[in-house]
Amino acid sequence: MNTFTLRPARESESRQIRELIHLVGINPTGLDWRRFLVAVNDRDEMIGCGQLKPHGTDILELASLAVYPEHRGKGVARAIVERLLANSPRPLYLMCESSLGSFYEKFGFRALSYEEMPRYFQRIASLAGLLTSLAQRQQRLLVMKLQ
Ligand SMILES: CC(C)(COP(=O)(O)OP(=O)(O)OC[C@H]1O[C@@H](n2cnc3c(N)ncnc32)[C@H](O)[C@@H]1OP(=O)(O)O)[C@@H](O)C(=O)NCCC(=O)NCCS
Repeated sequence: MNTFTLRPARESESRQIRELIHLVGINPTGLDWRRFLVAVNDRDEMIGCGQLKPHGTDILELASLAVYPEHRGKGVARAIVERLLANSPRPLYLMCESSLGSFYEKFGFRALSYEEMPRYFQRIASLAGLLTSLAQRQQRLLVMKLQ
């Protein structure tokens, strides 16, 4: 399977979206299927997803980007990001592990210093910094912004 298309998620895919997000181990909160864009294969089966998630009225986050392992490396995530950006107001924020920073920079996102982050992201960044140092992981959390 090398071809895929993008379309809005359906209510019947709500559970699968949750399962994919759990499988890949990213933020499992705020997974309302109505906001999701999905990538599907030629049998209309979901192979990846992403969403624009609002926090209050003034913060919008590119979130829940996930692709099943067997479908990675074929541009599915890039296509989802491009489509979400095409339909998104600015500014747009995201959180990612530092290894994905260069991927998002190609779309114009830039990493924010702690002082530049909205309070919502400062709180998460503080918690993530603590957990990361406790786990002594190599990755750190980036909060990025697209103007
Ligand atoms: C990250 C993820 C969505 C990428 O999906 P994908 O469909 O394989 O990505 P693409 O094929 O569109 O590749 C996009 C680019 O990201 C790079 N990339 C993919 N995964 C990466 C990783 N873990 N670390 C660094 N770079 C990565 C690819 O090399 C590619 O680079 P290129 O544009 O220079 O060719 C997928 O690996 C995934 O679901 N990971 C687990 C969940 C996750 O981390 N989500 C991101 C939350 S911010």
